[in-house]
Order: sequence, then structure tokens, then C-alpha cells
Amino acid sequence: MQREEAWLLLRENLHNENLINHSLAVETIMRGLAERLQEDVDKFGVAGLLHDIDYDQTGDDPQRHSLVAAELLTEKGLESDIVYAVKVHNEIHGLERKSILDRALYAADPVSGFITAAALIRPDKKLAEVQMKSLKKRFKETAFARGASREQMDNCSELGLEREEFLQIALASMQKIADQLGL
Ligand SMILES: [Fe+2]
Repeated sequence: MQREEAWLLLRENLHNENLINHSLAVETIMRGLAERLQEDVDKFGVAGLLHDIDYDQTGDDPQRHSLVAAELLTEKGLESDIVYAVKVHNEIHGLERKSILDRALYAADPVSGFITAAALIRPDKKLAEVQMKSLKKRFKETAFARGASREQMDNCSELGLEREEFLQIALASMQKIADQLGL
């Protein structure tokens, strides 16, 4: 599926603006990771963009989150590797992350919220001036952006990336679309 079609599908199904921004952030991070890992940039981007597409329906029901999405995406003809990555990004199902795509999506999901939080505590609330030094420091403060699982982000090691480089890729990727993210 092309990006434009994926975007329209997302807008049809997901109506929470914060989650739309989260989806855009994970999309850009996935593209950045794919570039670094010499993977399929467009495929990784679409997986990131669509991973939470069922959230309007499953926000209150984590047991169904990502399963409903996988069904919908299969129905819409998305490639099976994208469908599987979306399905396993919710670890509640206990499904194995097999591919680089699966692993990238799993690690990219929490880092989006983590970096957004790092921008929002700044006086200007902008991504542009967020520094790696502060990201590294905040990473160790468990009370900061508590919802962003450090363990999940540290799964970047499964991609052969050190935490620092992973954070750097995510930050640079989000900075590229800062305007769109309103940050
Ligand atoms: Fe997500």
C-alpha cells in the first residue's frame, strides 16, 4: 500500500489528534530506522503510520488492541509482514518478534512519546532544541515520561543499535516533521 492510501485509511479509522500525531511520529522514526538499517523505507513507514489504527475501537480493551488492526489491515490488502509487525507490537499477546520490521516497530513506539515529552518540558515546547544530552539523562529518570517503557526502547539492541544512536535517529526523524507534529 502506498503512503497516501495508508494515510487516508488511518484518517478514516482514527480520530484522536494526539494519536494521529503519535502515528506520524512513529512513521518518521520507522523511516529513519529503515534508512540506517538499509531496509525498505516505505514499508517501515507504512507500518509505523498504521500500527495504532484500531485505537478508537480498542483503546479501552488492550486485549483486542492490534488484533483488530491486524484484521482490518489484512482486509485492506496490506502486506502480511506489515500486518504481523502491527499485531506483535502489542506485547500482551505474547507473540514473537521475528523480523527487523517487528523489532523496529516495537522499539519505535515508546520512543515517540518519550521524545515528545522531552520537547514539551522545554520553555519553547519545541523539538528543534532538544539535546541528546538531555534525552540520555531523562532516559534514566523513571518518573519522566513514565509510560514510555525504557525496556521496550532498549530493545533497539535487537536491531544492532546502541541506545544513544537509536535515540539520535528517533530525535532527528521527529525533528524533520516538527511542524506537522506541532512541536
Ligand atoms: Fe503506538
